[in-house]
Amino acid sequence: MRTQVGIVGAGPAGLTLARLLELAGIETVVLEDRTREYVEHRIRAGVLEQGTVELLREAGVAGRLDREGIVHGGIHLQFEGERHHVPLAELTGGRAIVIYGQTEVVKDLIAARLESGLPLLFETPVESVDAEAGVIRHAGGEIECDVIAGCDGFHGVCRPSIPPGVLRTFERDYPFGWLGILAAVEPSIDELVYAHHPRGFALLSLRSPELSRYYVQCDPADDAADWPDDRVWAELRERTALDGWSLEEGPVLEKGVTGMRSFVAEPMQYGRLYLAGDAAHIVPPTGAKGLNLAVADARTLAEALVDRYAGDGRALDGYSDACLRRVWRAEHFSYWMTSMLHRNGDDPFEQRLQLSQLRYVTVSEAAATSLAENYVGLTTMG
Ligand code: FAD
Ligand code: PHB
Repeated sequence: MRTQVGIVGAGPAGLTLARLLELAGIETVVLEDRTREYVEHRIRAGVLEQGTVELLREAGVAGRLDREGIVHGGIHLQFEGERHHVPLAELTGGRAIVIYGQTEVVKDLIAARLESGLPLLFETPVESVDAEAGVIRHAGGEIECDVIAGCDGFHGVCRPSIPPGVLRTFERDYPFGWLGILAAVEPSIDELVYAHHPRGFALLSLRSPELSRYYVQCDPADDAADWPDDRVWAELRERTALDGWSLEEGPVLEKGVTGMRSFVAEPMQYGRLYLAGDAAHIVPPTGAKGLNLAVADARTLAEALVDRYAGDGRALDGYSDACLRRVWRAEHFSYWMTSMLHRNGDDPFEQRLQLSQLRYVTVSEAAATSLAENYVGLTTMG
């Protein structure tokens, strides 16, 4: 079998790339390890930057997103028992975020791909790729490709296929995890709340008018079983408590622990292989950047491939450099938000610095604007 672009992984990066290349008339095959059911129900991110929404619109897959996505023009930062509003749209010339689950983005992209009748092979784990020859190997055979897009996430096979000595990696582990729940209850908040608290970070988010998505900082070694519902609600109540406001509770539909890590592999390309999304970089979720970065890589790669098939390979040669400027900005922002909001041991000096930084963001328009333009996605970083 032969194709122009072989795409490994049907997450946000792989599916977005496949759609953009379809619209440009470039042939693709997408191979995915898991079942359709599994990838459509894997609960992860929920915040789309405006640039991500615009891209999905241009790609013709935003019908449901435009109907069901919830536009937010701000977020709240809570610390020392006070809740402060950061007016993202006001500070960024009208840019906003949209609340729409990653599960829904993935469902919409899969539906569009299947409607076009293009190859999307579920339950087809890629065993290895040859980055120099452009060959993808799976249990059912081999696919020869002009280009391989490694969109197979952090634990995939593409990045490890690059020979030793080529990649330089940068990594930071954090001594915290997030215990996340999805609850069948109307969200108690109008916009997201990021809360700093002596007992640890908490985040109030949502998925729809009937579904709340809440997180509490926990030990990364914790298991969901360590967190019975009563314990989760008690911690959420305490960490987000505010005079005159209360947190509504409801049945917990899903519960899980996520570890936190920063990671970048440079360069994001070797031979005929181009890495996109979590395959090349990971951010801790505090900045809500992971999904948005994956989609942005897919856009950069699609545009470079369009040029390449039109006879100009310069953008493809510069793919990694173009992505890494944006990636490192998101790495810094995610690290900064994470460090400012999480309890890290009992060091009172660090706690005072965190509170000073939070206070600064709420009293200085310059500081708030810096947070806002990073949160909604800087357009000037590529
Ligand atoms: P993925 O979504 O990981 O997709 C990769 C795909 O490749 C998967 O479908 C996988 O099954 C497939 N694959 C892997 N190996 C192979 C193989 N050998 N052959 C074929 N297919 C393969 N970001 C946020 O902004 N907010 C959040 O709250 C948030 N929560 C997260 C929670 C978890 C548990 C995780 C893991 C990530 C979370 N993220 C969050 C990050 C965000 O979800 C990711 O950045 C995003 O999914 C990246 O998309 P991707 O397409 O690069 O990778
Ligand atoms: C989510 O809704 O899952 C979410 C929101 C904001 C984040 C991380 C996750 O920073």
